[in-house]
Amino acid sequence: MNYQKIINDIYKIVSKENNSGSLASYIPELSKIDAEKFGICLTTTDSQEFHIGDSCEKFSIQSIAKIFSLIMAYRHIGDVIWERVGVEPSGTSFNSLVQLESDKGIPRNPFINSGALVICDILISHLTNPKEDFLKFMNTISNNTAINFSKKTVHSEKSVGYRNIALCNYIKSYGNIENEPKIVLDLYFNICSIKMNCKELAKACLFLANNGKTLSIQEKILNSSQTKRINAIMQTCGFYDESGEFSFKVGLPGKSGVGGGIIAIHPNKYSIAVWSPKLNAKGNSYRGMKFLELLTTRLQSSIF
Ligand code: DON
Repeated sequence: MNYQKIINDIYKIVSKENNSGSLASYIPELSKIDAEKFGICLTTTDSQEFHIGDSCEKFSIQSIAKIFSLIMAYRHIGDVIWERVGVEPSGTSFNSLVQLESDKGIPRNPFINSGALVICDILISHLTNPKEDFLKFMNTISNNTAINFSKKTVHSEKSVGYRNIALCNYIKSYGNIENEPKIVLDLYFNICSIKMNCKELAKACLFLANNGKTLSIQEKILNSSQTKRINAIMQTCGFYDESGEFSFKVGLPGKSGVGGGIIAIHPNKYSIAVWSPKLNAKGNSYRGMKFLELLTTRLQSSIF
């Protein structure tokens, strides 16, 4: 398979088209990014890497980090995790409050903000140094010590974090947050602020395409059944109220972030990270979605 040629061709096509959407201006720090940045990296389970564009430039991975926090918590407490957070697509926006009342404080899934806050609460209850441990985990899965939080982004998000503060307090009122909301929110904002480039991100997620095992140090991060579950939640919930659309057009498990990144997994084949900061109305990268749609169309290969 000539992945490099295919990636180059699609990159050219998408770059020539109109770049629609807008930056995530609700987080001031994210509104400063160059909207025309565009990077891709595809890394395969047989250790090949193909990239183009701004693939070495770090960006704010935002909600993509919710994959890593979920996996960390899942490794710690196992299947009881699903008593605190569901596995159903919400059909609502990533920061919605509406379902929490009827669901009595149990978020529909771990990828909407409410669910990710509960996951952060679990990490705080089970780890001695949650932030340091999170970075150590990132180091383990990617064999890379250069992954860190962005203080600027944390500060920027905290300064406008009213919606997440409301979500965390509301869940706490139902008893599904054990720790102080301020501490839970601090971990949440830090995790969202992680900066990575497409190469680092594709590599960090490759174990999800490799039955839960990292390629670099052959460490089992998850067993096959757990890996299937994470990919299943990415498939059904990774794009909020656009998860059906992503499944329909791309046909791979994936996860987006408001920094404009998308990671997608083809089990047993590859992981691919795409970054283009302009977002569509649902908060997902406009060019990222377009690129991945063309990729699986051209490769004639998806999980379906
Ligand atoms: O909490 C927020 O609003 C952001 N830190 C993360 C949202 C996000 O990335 C949603 N993804 N598309």
